[in-house]
Amino acid sequence: MQGQLTVDLAVVGTGVAGLTAALRAAELGLRVVAMTKTTVEDGNTRWAQGGIAVVLPHHDSSQPGDSVDAHVADTLAAGAGLCDEVAVRAILAAGPAAVGALRARGAVFDVNGSGGGLERTREGGHRAFRVIHAGGDATGAEVERALVVAARGGQLPLLEHQPVTEVLLDESGRVSGLALLGAGLGSVGVLRARAVLLTTGGLGQLYAASTNPEVATGDGLALALRTGALTADLEFVQFHPTALYLGAGFRGRQPLVTEAIRGAGAVLLDVTGAPVMAHVHPLGALAPRDVVAAAITSRMAATGTDHVLLDATHLDGAQLRRRFPTVYAACRAIGVDPGAAPIPVAPAAHYQCGGVVTDTSGRTTVPGLYAAGEVARTGLHGANRLASNSLLEGLVMGSRAAEAVAADLVVVARPGPSLPPSLLRPVADRDAVQRAMSAHAGIGRDAAGLAAAASVIARATTHRLVRTPCDVEDAALTLAAAAVIAAASARTESRGCHLRTDHPRTAACWRRSITVTLDDGGTPVVAQPMPVGGVA
Ligand code: FUM
Repeated sequence: MQGQLTVDLAVVGTGVAGLTAALRAAELGLRVVAMTKTTVEDGNTRWAQGGIAVVLPHHDSSQPGDSVDAHVADTLAAGAGLCDEVAVRAILAAGPAAVGALRARGAVFDVNGSGGGLERTREGGHRAFRVIHAGGDATGAEVERALVVAARGGQLPLLEHQPVTEVLLDESGRVSGLALLGAGLGSVGVLRARAVLLTTGGLGQLYAASTNPEVATGDGLALALRTGALTADLEFVQFHPTALYLGAGFRGRQPLVTEAIRGAGAVLLDVTGAPVMAHVHPLGALAPRDVVAAAITSRMAATGTDHVLLDATHLDGAQLRRRFPTVYAACRAIGVDPGAAPIPVAPAAHYQCGGVVTDTSGRTTVPGLYAAGEVARTGLHGANRLASNSLLEGLVMGSRAAEAVAADLVVVARPGPSLPPSLLRPVADRDAVQRAMSAHAGIGRDAAGLAAAASVIARATTHRLVRTPCDVEDAALTLAAAAVIAAASARTESRGCHLRTDHPRTAACWRRSITVTLDDGGTPVVAQPMPVGGVA
């Protein structure tokens, strides 16, 4: 695969957006290869629990009052003034067709006992029951299963265990391929590609505790920044309010306790038994995620603890176990029976709301470079993603990006020879990055803390050749941390997931996105603020 082979499209990342894109590209007759640094089954998608937020045609009749317009309104409200309404409408309106295509590929969703329609739940920020799910709380696993079966069964070329070190450009600045970490230490191969689509997911591993798996190391964000692409909204790192609490000082992936449990009636209590969400928001425990995570954080501080309790003991235990088998199993593994005792939970890093700036077809600001899924910033999420909008975005934007590549390749010339790749990078110690980001760039940040995080990470950084897959990840985390800190330092207000303790108010003058690019020395710098509505 490394050598002179030229593909039309190289898809980097094989989650929901990547596999959807690769399958659609193959349908459109493109020579496509999908690649991942691990295995196709090993991405973030399978960990998604709650579901896919979508207003299907039959929802309207069974729940009068719900509509795509209502879904748009909830998304805009959750996004705290920074969503791009045009993008929101375009993506949400395309949801029913995208879910239909996924079902046609074999994904099976839970149906309700009565009419045979799809069962629906509610999550934070949704004013209607519009979240469809599979396997109770195993929606991501079912989405991934269906796409992987389609990809493997359809003979889609898949390149596994292949880290990418660089998106290559030709002399005109157009994408010409990828530099791939070779099998020999420090060796690099080249895959020539007329277009590259980044679908690498998020950056949860910037933090010591995250709901994300080990693979979420900001790879696509780093690749795009180094290519010169514009990024935006990076300061909005979403913390899920209810990750399973695994003990003081726990580090690593924390199992999710889906918001759908609150949709089913579970309530949040602090360790003294007082309700956490009383008088905080009209939607109570189903307020948007940033509101709930912030309320929990402040209650933990007030009570001097590192967790709160999610109480589902008043619900039917057998029903709970049937409906939420994944959560149930995770709780049982730490000795908690959710039907009999409250579940200990705490916020954990969960989702990157910003990312590589794209239009609603996945085109970035670099010719030939596309992005879709969590790594991209379409304008759907604004300052805080609405629950369960991400699988939907992956399905819609994966497909659209493949269609955009097919359309664009008809009219663009073949790329010229690639400029030579480089393996020299700033690389910080991962442990230092995670500790600094968790201490200073989580829920509740201030100027001094952000500056301290930047200087700790700078001191832990050396410039060196990346030789191993772990080096490639550490270099990506180092750059992603610097970019998040730059954006978070610049936004001197609180909005959505970005809570500044030194600037607690939301300021009307900040109702615009902050964009970040790299300067000539490779340092992330805040570029021009972008008005709501996105790039021209
Ligand atoms: O709570 C959840 O099930 C998470 C959903 C999401 O991140 O969209």
